[in-house]
Amino acid sequence: MRMVIEDSVREAGTDPIFAVAAKAAEATEKYGAENVINSTIGALMDDEGALVTFDEVFNTLKALPDSEISNYADIGGLPEFLENVQTACFRDKRPKAHIRAVATPGGTGAIRHTVANYTNYGDEILIPDWHWAPYQTIAQENRRGFHIFKLFNDEGRFNLESYEEEFKKLYQKQGRILSILNTPAHNPTGFSLNLDEWKELIDFWKKEALENPDKPIIVLVDIAYIDFAKEGSRDFMPLLADLPENILPLFAFSASKGYTMYGLRNGALICAAPTEEIADEFAASAVFSNRGTWSNGTRGAMKTLSDIVADEEKYARFLEEQNQNRDMLRKRGDALVEESEKVGLPICSYDDGFFMSIPCDKPKEVAELLYDDNIFLIALKNGLRVALCAVSEEKCRKIPKAVKEAIEKLK
Ligand SMILES: Cc1ncc(COP(=O)(O)O)c(C=O)c1O
Repeated sequence: MRMVIEDSVREAGTDPIFAVAAKAAEATEKYGAENVINSTIGALMDDEGALVTFDEVFNTLKALPDSEISNYADIGGLPEFLENVQTACFRDKRPKAHIRAVATPGGTGAIRHTVANYTNYGDEILIPDWHWAPYQTIAQENRRGFHIFKLFNDEGRFNLESYEEEFKKLYQKQGRILSILNTPAHNPTGFSLNLDEWKELIDFWKKEALENPDKPIIVLVDIAYIDFAKEGSRDFMPLLADLPENILPLFAFSASKGYTMYGLRNGALICAAPTEEIADEFAASAVFSNRGTWSNGTRGAMKTLSDIVADEEKYARFLEEQNQNRDMLRKRGDALVEESEKVGLPICSYDDGFFMSIPCDKPKEVAELLYDDNIFLIALKNGLRVALCAVSEEKCRKIPKAVKEAIEKLK
């Protein structure tokens, strides 16, 4: 007999990342950390494998009075957080639009509210073939589906043709569309849309929106990794203004990676609405969703972020720390790209961020073969994901050759 409803019957313990991470931990115990490449975890580690935590963040958090940590926050978020998170999100690239923020527990909460409030039950969400798996989970959890376009064209750049084709099908069928774009520093490939690609996309949305003035286009930009992308990674933001009224750009801001607040559950859903009415409607529905899901977010985390961003000296020290870590990540990424080229291993276009991906057949088998070399990567549907956030530059250099050999062995 089943006690949960049919729609909520789920398989238990199937998260592949945790299963492989457990294997890597076992190998580390047996062979020592220096002999194991544990490239599974999506959190920034230093070269010794310890979690990076920003001093400015934790000094600020720990200096808060107990009551500022303990107490509830306002349902929509502390007012000063809602102000300062806009700066954290846009910095000096604020779009000239009606901006409103609502606090959420991480970027996940922001994605959840977007799915729940901007699509109908049974609708499908437009996502690329290479994507962060929880998009599917969030869609399913909320009784929605997903629809795939091909992320890359033959040149390894954004596949606008596939995007347009799949977009049009869904848009006409549903009478509205939600498109989630994880850029810059996409998980799992590290791909970032360039400014020309953004302009082409925006032109496409404008054309579609003007031809279908009664059909909403919602674009959610998932910027979870933006603070680890190159200078100029926010240049696309001002382009998301002066749009037809039926296009609504939203941003899923996450403090998990950029502020090393993973478990503190801090983020925001931010709109750049074309009108004040649409911004009001956005805030009302997202605040209501907060009340009806997790109630309110982590007060101490909101206060910490806003205290840092509002204080020029603190913010400068924080950005310095963030930039140092961004540089560490950049060196690992460069090493991976360089070694892949050297051994002739094709990889997905990598620009920035925590991950890169290697397209291959039989990813699960390749990943399993690599266990013999004490290399632990995540097998995706269409390839392998390397979490360069979790391993040193020296270890990154070893991965491409080993992967190439494993792929060839299985041919
Ligand atoms: C692509 C992507 N989006 C959003 C998130 C949201 O993370 P969080 O809810 O911890 O902010 C993550 C975290 O792994 C991610 O990889």
